[in-house]
Amino acid sequence: MIVSLKQAIEKAEKNKVAIGHFNVSNFEQLKAIANVAQKLNVPVIIGVSEGERDFIGVRQIVALVKSFKDEGFAIFLNSDHTHTIERVREAALAGFDAVLFDGAKLPFEENIKLTKEAIKIVKSINPEIIIEGELGYIGGSSMVFKKLPKGVAINEKDLTKPEDAKKFIEETGVDLFAPAVGNVHGMLKNAPNPNLNIERIREIKKAVKIPLVLHGGSGISDEDFHAAIDAGISIIHISTELRVAWRKGLEEGFIKHPEEVAPYKLAQVAIQDMTAVVENRLKLFNRL
Ligand code: G3H
Ligand code: ZN
Repeated sequence: MIVSLKQAIEKAEKNKVAIGHFNVSNFEQLKAIANVAQKLNVPVIIGVSEGERDFIGVRQIVALVKSFKDEGFAIFLNSDHTHTIERVREAALAGFDAVLFDGAKLPFEENIKLTKEAIKIVKSINPEIIIEGELGYIGGSSMVFKKLPKGVAINEKDLTKPEDAKKFIEETGVDLFAPAVGNVHGMLKNAPNPNLNIERIREIKKAVKIPLVLHGGSGISDEDFHAAIDAGISIIHISTELRVAWRKGLEEGFIKHPEEVAPYKLAQVAIQDMTAVVENRLKLFNRL
């Protein structure tokens, strides 16, 4: 039985599969994800960015995820896209399993300096907490947009370079690494998302050895997902697809039940739609 996130990641690497990481900001999302992971019997990571954490409550999300963990399955909590040392400390003290210190927008040396500081704090609070670093800017919002956000690394020359990744990891000592390899946060409204650069993933994996995390999973094709996992990706983040399913499902719920006022009844369609997204992604990532 898997008891720690470290074990789950090692197992995923060994079996050439990826662990699904889903962002949540309400209980319906958490319920849909937990139910599917439990049904498929695969580990899963719940992510909360700073805004999501503020909305649910830091202690509250820890308690909620723990309540599912206590039922005996492998569900873990990540402090996603954490931009300040204060918030890193807050998450570590609250009992998160993992923390992503996101210095992707900072100059290279500054990113290294702050990531190192984040690791020092996290490991002094609990050495078991997994810490992730990020290099290469892939945008900041899980939303549906008309055109790609300004400044995202899409052209080959802007993607994370294997030698930079190696230097970053050697100098910081992160446990997990998130590169920019053609992935972007969010989804294009009227076009597919850009393709991943699979060769670049392979080169980075060869240079750094540690497990790689693919952010911006929404809108990526099934073929690219499998090729990315083959090339060395061990965790995949999904958020926008779940947000879109939530909104569409809620709208449908309101139309279907115009007189209904019970939240748990109105949310049923949204939960079903989000369940379908999570099931599809977890089956794909775990090759089930
Ligand atoms: O950390 C969150 C993710 O990277 C989600 O990206 O909204 O494109 O699925 P996404
Ligand atoms: Zn992300």
